[in-house]
Amino acid sequence: MIKRGRILRKNKNIREMVSENKLHLENLIQPIFLISGKNKREKIKTMDGIERKSIDLQIKDIKKMISMGIKSVIIFPSIEENKKNKNATEALNPKGLIPNAIKEIKKQFPELILITDIALDPYNSDGHDGILHNGKILNDKTVDILVKQAILHAKSGADFVAPSDMMDGRILKIRNNLDKENFKYVGIISYAAKYCSSLYGPFRDALNSAPKSGDKKTYQINPANSDEALKEVIEDEAEGADMLMIKPAIFYLDIISKVKANTYLPVVAYQVSGEYSMLICSSKNNIIDLDDAILESLLSIKRAGANLIISYFTSYIAKKGLIKA
Ligand code: PBG
Repeated sequence: MIKRGRILRKNKNIREMVSENKLHLENLIQPIFLISGKNKREKIKTMDGIERKSIDLQIKDIKKMISMGIKSVIIFPSIEENKKNKNATEALNPKGLIPNAIKEIKKQFPELILITDIALDPYNSDGHDGILHNGKILNDKTVDILVKQAILHAKSGADFVAPSDMMDGRILKIRNNLDKENFKYVGIISYAAKYCSSLYGPFRDALNSAPKSGDKKTYQINPANSDEALKEVIEDEAEGADMLMIKPAIFYLDIISKVKANTYLPVVAYQVSGEYSMLICSSKNNIIDLDDAILESLLSIKRAGANLIISYFTSYIAKKGLIKA
C-alpha cells in the first residue's frame, strides 16, 4: 500500500492543523544598540536596517514594538573610544549609558522584559570580554568585575542579566552576589554555549568592539566541539542559570537539539548579527526571498529545540505582520 503523506499537505488548513512548531512574537527578543546623547541615530555599515540610537529614540521604537506585541528586548551599548580603558571601568559607572537606559526604559515600560549583556568588551580598550594582562585574559579578576556589573544592572532595574563573556565560574558568583544584595528575583540567562564564531563581525562593527589583538579562542568554544558545549551548559545550570543560551543559532542547530534534550530549563538561541546580515545581503542580491528565509530560519531554530530566540528581525517581523500577535 502506498503511504500518501501528501494527504496531510493537501491544503493550508490541514498543513496548519498538523504543524509541529509555530512562531510566536512572545518568544522573540529584539536586540537594541544604544549610543549616548539625544535624538541621535547612526547607521551600521554591515547591518543594513539596524541603527544605533540614543535612549530617547530607542524609547520611541520600543513603544511601537510593545504596541505590536513584542515583550522583550536585550540592550547593548556603543561606548565612545575615550571612555574605554584596560580595566573597562566605564562598565561600572552608575551614570553610564546602560544604567541610564535601564532606568529610562523601565520607567516608561515596567512590563517590558529587559535583558542586559554582561561582558567587558564594549568598555575595554583591548576589545576583549575580559581583562587582558601580558597577553592573557584574567578569569577571576574579570569575574569580580562582571559581578559588580550585574549588580549595577539589577539595581538599575534589569529583569535578567545575560553573561556573554564565557569566563569560568561567573554564573555561580553572579547568582550568589545578586542574592546577597537582595536581587533574588533578577534572573540569569547564561550564554552557556557561546562559540568562537565568524558570525559576530557586524555586531563588533555596531559596537566598535573588535579585539585589538588576538582572538577570543581562549574563552569561546571551538566550533569543532559539541561535548564541550554540553559540559558548559550543564555546569551553568548547576551554578544557577535560569535559562541557557546557544550562540550562534543556524550553524549550531545540533547543539540546540542536544542541549534541549539535556535540560528542563528554557533554551534560548541567538540568531547573531552575521546570520542577520547574510540573509539581508542575499535577499538584496535577489538570491533568496527575505521574508520566507527569515521565517524558515526561525522555525528551524525552534524545531531544533529553542524556546526563545534573540533575533534582529523581531521588530521587522512584527511590523510586516509575518507572525500575528
Ligand atoms: C560580547 C557579545 C558578542 C555578541 C553578544 N555579546 C560578540 C562577541 O563575543 O564578540 C554577538 C552578538 C551578535 O553577533 O549579534 N560579549
